[in-house]
Amino acid sequence: MNIVIFGPPGAGKGTQSDLIVKKYNLFQLSTGQLLRKEIEDKTELGKEISNTINSGNLVSDNIVGNLIERYISNKAYKNKFIFDGYPRNLIQAKKLDQLLALHDQKIDIVLKLSVSLNIIKKRILERSLLEKRADDSEEIAIRRFETYEKNIKPVIDFYKESNLLRVINGEDTISEINSEISGLIEGIKG
Ligand code: AP5
Ligand code: MG
Repeated sequence: MNIVIFGPPGAGKGTQSDLIVKKYNLFQLSTGQLLRKEIEDKTELGKEISNTINSGNLVSDNIVGNLIERYISNKAYKNKFIFDGYPRNLIQAKKLDQLLALHDQKIDIVLKLSVSLNIIKKRILERSLLEKRADDSEEIAIRRFETYEKNIKPVIDFYKESNLLRVINGEDTISEINSEISGLIEGIKG
């Protein structure tokens, strides 16, 4: 089974992916984490993308497309993906379909976590006290939210059309959301 989870910054993509990965033996592919690792490791790519990430904008479709292709082409992860934070625009959504088809896979369900900007600001502020993410200031969190809003509408329509989209209230508690997602997964597992 392959799952896509998306939503604004601080929506709980990572939190819910962590729980689902353990429960269903899946592999979490977080493009944000992969990109931050490149920055941490000071790779050429890391140097190229750090300004973009730290200003709350999207890294180029080609760069993230190449990153995810490395994993999708790896048989060890076949049909075990939870895509956390990919796709973020229509080009990426189409690219994901192409890459999966090329490797004889498909998306089984798409989860959208909906959370208001006020709650997001609160969560990001709280997280910034615990973790050191360079893009977790209020200003950049708002910018990330705006970037999300600007690009996501066609992605939502794309997955609505293919009847894969399930919208989840991301303002419920972590365990309520986890139960809801588990129910949806059990439903498609049959
Ligand atoms: P990414 O790392 O994906 O960041 P993001 O989308 O801004 O989302 P976050 O990781 O901040 O939030 P989350 O939804 O995972 O929430 P979390 O579970 O941590 O991307 C970073 C950057 O990389 C992008 O801005 C972009 O530049 C680049 N990038 C990444 N993917 C890209 C792509 N495909 N294309 C181009 N560029 C890309 O939860 C947040 C906090 O809230 C935590 O403290 C958590 O404990 C708490 N929390 C979670 N759920 C709940 C709940 N239900 N109730 C109360 N608290 C909760
Ligand atoms: Mg995350």
